[in-house]
Order: sequence, then C-alpha cells, then structure tokens
Amino acid sequence: MVEKTIDTNHNSNKISSSENNIINFESPVLEAKNLNVHYGKVLAVKNVSIQVPKNNVVSLIGPSGCGKSTLIRCFNRMNDTIRIAKIDGTITYNSQDIYELDPAEVRYRIGMVFQKPNPFPKSIYENVAFGPKVNGVKENLDEIVESSLKKADLWKEVKDRLKENAYGLSGGQQQRLCIARSLAVNPEVILMDEPCSALDPISTDRIEELIKDLSKSMTILIVTHNMQQAIRVSNYAACMMAGEERIGELIEYGEVDQIFGNPIDKRTENYVTGRIG
Ligand SMILES: Nc1ncnc2c1ncn2[C@@H]1O[C@H](COP(=O)(O)OP(=O)(O)O)[C@@H](O)[C@H]1O
Ligand SMILES: [Mg+2]
Repeated sequence: MVEKTIDTNHNSNKISSSENNIINFESPVLEAKNLNVHYGKVLAVKNVSIQVPKNNVVSLIGPSGCGKSTLIRCFNRMNDTIRIAKIDGTITYNSQDIYELDPAEVRYRIGMVFQKPNPFPKSIYENVAFGPKVNGVKENLDEIVESSLKKADLWKEVKDRLKENAYGLSGGQQQRLCIARSLAVNPEVILMDEPCSALDPISTDRIEELIKDLSKSMTILIVTHNMQQAIRVSNYAACMMAGEERIGELIEYGEVDQIFGNPIDKRTENYVTGRIG
C-alpha cells in the first residue's frame, strides 16, 4: 500500500461517528440528507446522508454503476440537466438548501470537473475568462486569467499561447485548463468525477499535486476508481455499493486511513482489497 502523503483532517471539526460508520462535522460545506435519486421509475441512489467538511478532500469510491456520478452531480444541481432524474431528500451548501439558490450561482460556488476534459472550442484565454465575463466582470480579466492558470499549474506552459485554441492542448493540459476555468469564478468547492481516468500517469500526478494544493483553501469531493489515488489525495473516503437490485447506497464513510486500513463493513473491505468491483 502506498504511503499517504498529506496530513489528515485539517479544520475538519469532526464531532461524532454514528453506528452506521457515517461521520458528522460541525459546519459541513456540503450535506446530503436522506437523498434518493430516481431515473424515471428506477431508484438509482437510496437514502444517502453524507457531510463534506471544509478544506478537506473527500473521495467517493465504489464499483461501477453504484451511483457515484449520480450522487456527486446532486451537489451542484447537475442532475437538473437530466430530464428523467428526480431527487428527494435535502442537499445543503453551507446550511442553505441548494434548491432555494439560483442554479447558476450554485454552479459557480460549487464547480465541477469531469472525466473527459471539456474545454470550450475557444482560446485558452477565453476559456478561463468565460465565467467571470458571464458574471459581468469587465475589469482585471487578464489578472484573473493569469492567477487562475497559475493556481491550476498551467500558466508556464500556456502564457505565450493564450490566444490559441484550447483544443491544441494535451489531455492533461486541457484538464488543468478546465480546473482553471472553474477556479476563475472563485468557487468554494470543486466536484471532480474521475478527473484523471482519461489521463496518462504523469498528467495524473500533476492533477493529484494540484488537488492537494487546492485543498489548503478549498473543499474537494472527488470520485475515483483508483484506490492509491484516494489514499494519496484525500482525508476522508466514502464507499458506495449497489446490491443485486442495483440500488446504490453509502455503506461506509470515514477517515481515509480507517477506510483503507481498517474498514468496518465487509463490503468495503472486499472492495478496497480488490475482491469486488
Ligand atoms: N442519465 C441517466 N439515465 C438513466 N439512468 C442513469 C443515468 N445515469 C446513470 N444512470 C443509472 O444510475 C445508476 C448509477 O450510475 P452512475 O451514477 O453513473 O454510477 P457510477 O458513477 O458509480 O458508475 C446506473 O444503474 C446507471 O445505469
Ligand atoms: Mg461515474
């Protein structure tokens, strides 16, 4: 097993652990309570309650099809864009129901990075300036673009080609550009759904370093299939699982060392040791 390289739970204020191996925090940034998600009549995610603590990295793990993408999309109302998706339960961002907030605002505060890099067919500069411009920012755009690209560890590679089309970048650079694009509107949270699974190992390393760096001042929820990655980047891990009826549930949530080193649920153990999934 790879050694963990970051300190755990800075500022997390963990207050309790319940009998379901689900932990509670004092002021979670994100929280889902009794969340169910249906696609049409089919229940995909059942009764999930989870809290994401501030300035931490939480990994969401579990076999394919257990509802990880479905769950992570709930946190910034991305499932609104799927016509047949229906959500019940509560989702809060800093204690506010996200369905009482403007969806565009929710997606700026809670950015998202996908498996496949999805830059706009525009210049590198325009990709990063896009969010601020839509928000009506007219001044200091150059500074915003530069600082966002610096935070995403891409500035040095692109500073002389900002006017070039983003599609000319490598996959790893495109993914860092997508991260820069979400950082440009100053989000508090970034959701990442398998952000490295389309990338080579060197690009993956750079994104992992970036995640660790960003988590000093941001909250990150990341879906990953890569156990070693979860151990390297996260403070907490949440394991989902779907039984024979293929309904995804959260079966265990805890500090990353506990989930990988001493899982309480047998199914978590089977998954993290590679016996299932
Ligand atoms: N847009 C969709 N329409 C209908 N069913 C979906 C949709 N997205 C996911 N599902 C179903 O929901 C379940 C969970 O999928 P998903 O959240 O993608 O799992 P994971 O990300 O863990 O692989 C699966 O059975 C999948 O087929
Ligand atoms: Mg998925």
